[in-house]
Amino acid sequence: MTSDKWSIEKRAPLRNDSVLKEENVPEIGCLSIVVLGASGDLAKKKTFPALFNLYRQGFLQSHEVYIFGYARTKISDEELRDRIRGYLVPSKNTVEGHEEDLTNFLQLIKYVCGSYDTEEGYQLLDKEISEHEIYRNCTEGSSRRLFYLALPPSVYPPVCKMIRKCCMNKSDLGGWTRIVVEKPFGRDLESAEQLSNQIGELFEEPQIYRIDHYLGKELVQNLLVLRFANRFFMPLWNRDNIDNIQIVFREDFGTDGRGGYFDQYGIIRDIIQNHLLQVLCLVAMEKPVSLKPEHIRDEKVKVLQSVVPIKDEEVVLGQYDGYLEDPTVPDGSYTPTFATMVLRIHNERWEGVPFILKAGKALNSRKAEIRVQFKDVPGDIFKSKKQGRNEFVIRLQPSEAMYMKLTVKQPGLKMSTVQSEMDLSYGQRYQDVTIPEAYERLILDTIRGDQQHFVRRDELKAAWEIFTPLLHRIDKGEFKSLPYKPGSRGPEESG
Ligand SMILES: NC(=O)c1ccc[n+]([C@@H]2O[C@H](COP(=O)([O-])OP(=O)(O)OC[C@H]3O[C@@H](n4cnc5c(N)ncnc54)[C@H](OP(=O)(O)O)[C@@H]3O)[C@@H](O)[C@H]2O)c1
Repeated sequence: MTSDKWSIEKRAPLRNDSVLKEENVPEIGCLSIVVLGASGDLAKKKTFPALFNLYRQGFLQSHEVYIFGYARTKISDEELRDRIRGYLVPSKNTVEGHEEDLTNFLQLIKYVCGSYDTEEGYQLLDKEISEHEIYRNCTEGSSRRLFYLALPPSVYPPVCKMIRKCCMNKSDLGGWTRIVVEKPFGRDLESAEQLSNQIGELFEEPQIYRIDHYLGKELVQNLLVLRFANRFFMPLWNRDNIDNIQIVFREDFGTDGRGGYFDQYGIIRDIIQNHLLQVLCLVAMEKPVSLKPEHIRDEKVKVLQSVVPIKDEEVVLGQYDGYLEDPTVPDGSYTPTFATMVLRIHNERWEGVPFILKAGKALNSRKAEIRVQFKDVPGDIFKSKKQGRNEFVIRLQPSEAMYMKLTVKQPGLKMSTVQSEMDLSYGQRYQDVTIPEAYERLILDTIRGDQQHFVRRDELKAAWEIFTPLLHRIDKGEFKSLPYKPGSRGPEESG
């Protein structure tokens, strides 16, 4: 086939019945990655650095890939490159060759300026992509187009519509078009379903990658391995042995001038409804039939559907003193910057075990962790109870680690007990390994067509069903936030 086959006029029309079967598509050939919202914060801090790291590790090849930035801001290719250059820094094992790789990578980036809701910009974008495909002598069936929406969700519907209309891979014989969308996916059940319907009319579910970057974190990805590849945990991981499970996110800074964005959402929508709930699913789910994305996501949905309505008396909301002084926060806002709540899962494994989700800004520390607290040993002959329980802690960030708190004999002649730790700190155990950024893995998954670590539509719906009643009450001012001091552990009432 000649490259001429790929000229725009000669392309086969877009099929209405849509969508190319996503399974068994070879992941080779010409790859065009389009970052929409290329002028923004996420693009420069996360998306382009992740692409650069993939390039450096050989997952993106110069002879196949081209990267397009798209936004309304009027800048040149070189200006976009200058904006992102400072964020493309070497990691600890990749200093050598960095400058040369950086120069070569930046040459793969082109900027296209256009609006989000009219055709002109997208037609230009399509032309640029097509020229790249022709230049790379792209054979039919090997055109891959990835659209990364680093944009506010308010523009997802028009952007998806325009991509569908102007920029799809038009080959009848293969290749693909995929879109990646960022949270927040809606504000409540109704708006999320509306957004899902709008996007769902344009793209099939296998083409939509809803990113929750927590699912790209090393220790979150380790949860299934830990739980289902270790005999240790299998008999213990249930209501007979576990007293409670805490999933905690703490930040030691406030809104830092981004209060305007944060205030529209609050801590539950920003952290708990998505990141912490995804972690809960992986901690609580049953063993999937296999590692196929659909099998894993089927089990996650079952967990979400088994969560019983949240009780008011098991929720504490807080707002740190000084939040309202952020000039970008509306006067009198009662948006919570802290929340803790108990989720209860009504099934055979977890009946009676509280899952305590806690997230807050401007607290005394910065970390995200899972704490699995075991019940006390029955018939304790050592009186070790007062020293603390067995606990299994998985620290997601910073400094990835997992450790088990055990009771051991205090070394020496006396028969006394002490709490100690079996510690797997990644920084020590895997000194030569650079742990990939969440975005790096997730973008690679989108290129490979692996949806395992992305949120499926029914999962999203079930997640919103859990939180929407509470969120509506908060929005109406019926559920007040308690004040807490910056640098504290949150409101005293949260325990
Ligand atoms: N920043 C983060 O670290 C982060 C983390 C997780 C998720 N997210 C999510 O990722 C998405 C992008 O985040 P971001 O922080 O990069 O956003 P952003 O900087 O506010 O926006 C990205 C770009 O979108 C365009 N834009 C901004 N507001 C717009 C509007 N009202 N209508 C149309 N276009 C608009 C702007 O480009 P032009 O004006 O040049 O067109 C802007 O450069 C959001 O959905 C956000 O919630 C961000």
